[in-house]
Parts: sequence; structure tokens; C-alpha cells
Amino acid sequence: MVIRREKPEEFSQIYDLVKVAFQTAKVTNGQEQDFVNQLRSNGNYIPELALVAEENSKLIGHLMLTKTYIINNGNKYETLLLAPISVVLEYRNQGIGSKLIKESFKLANDMGYTSILLVGDPAYYHRFGFKAAVNFGIKHTHNIPDEYVMACELVPGALYGISGTTTCC
Ligand SMILES: CC(C)(COP(=O)(O)OP(=O)(O)OC[C@H]1O[C@@H](n2cnc3c(N)ncnc32)[C@H](O)[C@@H]1OP(=O)(O)O)[C@@H](O)C(=O)NCCC(=O)NCCS
Repeated sequence: MVIRREKPEEFSQIYDLVKVAFQTAKVTNGQEQDFVNQLRSNGNYIPELALVAEENSKLIGHLMLTKTYIINNGNKYETLLLAPISVVLEYRNQGIGSKLIKESFKLANDMGYTSILLVGDPAYYHRFGFKAAVNFGIKHTHNIPDEYVMACELVPGALYGISGTTTCC
């Protein structure tokens, strides 16, 4: 299995992969595949951090880190959004999601990013070092329960003093 950057000629295949993967998600709005397209076109796309997992020429997983912001008193602090992450059903529970996340963290760190936000299930994301973002004084602008809005420091202390609101997801 290799993890590498997504390619434009795979976008339609990735659309289908994400759509099908979220049909078995615990929480879904049924539009994650369209969200992927929006993320690629809204100016926050980072091609180096849009990854696929591939085995025997078959795409079996996908993850995106895109730019997002924490706003405080008009100050804009750039961070990353992890969303969405998808693994093909038959390949789950083999560590592929974990590998995608860890590889994206390494690449993001190498590029100088120091923190990542997401909206997701704490039961899955705690293992990667995510904590409720409210611990860092970061709240979501939408009405999402605090425990699901999560933040991870790639560099210890990166979010110290960076409180504010985020519109991520
Ligand atoms: C979430 C997802 C990407 C995980 O991929 P994966 O390759 O199976 O993940 P891993 O093999 O690295 O990890 C599997 C572990 O995560 C757990 N897990 C998977 N999804 C979870 C969830 N939504 N909540 C809590 N735990 C979850 C599994 O039970 C397993 O636990 P274990 O290690 O204690 O046995 C995959 O299940 C998926 O594509 N789900 C549908 C899309 C989705 O829900 N994405 C967003 C998640 S917030």
C-alpha cells in the first residue's frame, strides 16, 4: 500500500470513493463528496496534502488537509482542516486511516504547519493527539457540540494563546 498525492485525473474516482465510504459513516450529511470538490476550488486547497492510499493500482483511501482559520478580534490565524477522511469499507480496520493521518501530519509538519482542526468523533481522533478545541479556547461558529470540534498541535504549544472562532467544515 502506498500513500501519495491525489491526481486530477482521479477526482471523479475519489468523488465516488468518498460518497460510498460515507454511506457507512456514523455521522454524515450525504454531501462529503461535494465538500471535497468545494475544498479543491475555494482557495484553501493544498495539493501536497490531498492524499490517496493505493494498493495494486486501486484507490482504497483518501484524506485532505486544507487551509482554515481561527479568527480573534479581526486577527486571522492560519491552521489546517482535516476533512474528509475515507477508507473503502473492505479495507477498514487495517490501519489505513491511521497511516493516511500520520503521513499527512508528517508532510504538514515538513511544510511548516503547526496545528490541525477537525469536526469529528473524539473516539477515533483522540489516538492521534486531538483534544477538544475548547481546551485551546477555540470554538466553532456553528452550533456544533464542543467535544466534536477538535484540535491537534503538530508543534507543542502551537495553539497557546490562539483562542478564537473557526468556521472549519
Ligand atoms: C473513519 C475511517 C476513515 C477509519 O479508517 P480505518 O482505515 O478503518 O481506520 P484504522 O484502521 O486506522 O482505525 C480503525 C480503528 O478506528 C475505529 N474507528 C473507525 N471509525 C470510527 C469512528 N467513527 N468512531 C470511533 N472509532 C472509529 C475502529 O473501531 C478501529 O478501532 P481499534 O483500533 O480500536 O480496533 C473509516 O472507518 C471510514 O472511511 N469511515 C467512513 C467515513 C467517515 O466516517 N469518516 C470520518 C470519520 S469522523
